[in-house]
Amino acid sequence: MALSLRSYEPHDFSALHKLDQSCFPPGISYSKTALRYFLTLPSADCVVATDENHIVGFIVSEENPPLAHIITLDVSEKQRQRGVGTALIGKLESNLAARGVRSILLETAIDNEAAVAFWQRHGYRIEAVLKRYYLGRLDAYEMRKILPPARKAGIPSGEKF
Ligand SMILES: CC(C)(COP(=O)(O)OP(=O)(O)OC[C@H]1O[C@@H](n2cnc3c(N)ncnc32)[C@H](O)[C@@H]1OP(=O)(O)O)[C@@H](O)C(=O)NCCC(=O)NCCS
Repeated sequence: MALSLRSYEPHDFSALHKLDQSCFPPGISYSKTALRYFLTLPSADCVVATDENHIVGFIVSEENPPLAHIITLDVSEKQRQRGVGTALIGKLESNLAARGVRSILLETAIDNEAAVAFWQRHGYRIEAVLKRYYLGRLDAYEMRKILPPARKAGIPSGEKF
């Protein structure tokens, strides 16, 4: 797999919406209106993963530094467990950290074992159970990661000046 990461471009919209529909059940996946709303927020960031120009995953966040919120992370079913999600969250976290984000929040359904394992593997910790968060009946975990302080370029840590 020749994985590349890039920023969202408006012509990606249909592919992202289709991928989101395939990743989540009806009612949890986003309508076109909702997905467009999040993607066009001035505070949104969206990283897209491609393999040979074919979209295999994407992640969307919104931010108000020092806080950010992950809206969704979607990896195409055939491309899972190959590091696509890891590449996407790595790039997003580094974008967010560079803009002063220190704390990232997200919600995930408590029965989504792959997602809970994925987030825990990447340092996200369960903070709360949100009762009936999805569809008025499915509980969600609220999960948070505190990012380490961004290193300032050109100033090695501990150096006096
Ligand atoms: C959750 C999801 C994004 C993971 O993406 P991915 O590209 O498969 O993840 P990666 O290959 O980078 O996996 C990284 C780690 O996550 C964990 N993980 C991923 N999938 C897992 C699974 N099915 N079962 C258990 N652990 C899993 C593992 O710890 C894995 O590390 P390892 O490869 O060393 O074992 C993907 O399964 C997905 O898109 N699911 C549907 C949409 C969704 O639920 N999104 C998250 C909602 S908040």
